[in-house]
Amino acid sequence: MAIRNMRTEGDEILSKKSRPVEVFDQKLWDLLDDMKETMAEHNGVGLAGVQVGYLRRLFIVDVGDGVVEFINPQILETSGEQFVVEGCLSFPGKWGMARRPAHVKARAQDRNGNWFEIEGDDLMAQAICHEYDHLDGIVFLDRIERRLTEEELKEL
Ligand code: CO
Repeated sequence: MAIRNMRTEGDEILSKKSRPVEVFDQKLWDLLDDMKETMAEHNGVGLAGVQVGYLRRLFIVDVGDGVVEFINPQILETSGEQFVVEGCLSFPGKWGMARRPAHVKARAQDRNGNWFEIEGDDLMAQAICHEYDHLDGIVFLDRIERRLTEEELKEL
């Protein structure tokens, strides 16, 4: 496994749309393993392929109970609302307040290509929506209603 180079603010790849994953092979598994290591190194909750320069529709999420891999994900249902602090590994030091669904139901393929359904609340719902946005070239700064102030950042 290896740490991959994080694409950050100003890199135009972050605004590009990712294409579907078509091949489920060792190269994909190596990428997912590297993404896991890269996310852990940066203490992240989620990481999309595009953030390490790979323009395919996949992301990983870990809200504290293990990494879930989402390949070719679809958001099936959203409900409720939460107004939450949000950041992104590609925008280090920047935080804002985002309005996200409180509950999300999604489906995706696993690393072997098998479809599964997953439901998430709170942080999981926020993370799925945030990472899904990356696949369409949308970054969290496009979603936040306001940036956090210096004072609020200190409290964080
Ligand atoms: Co992000």
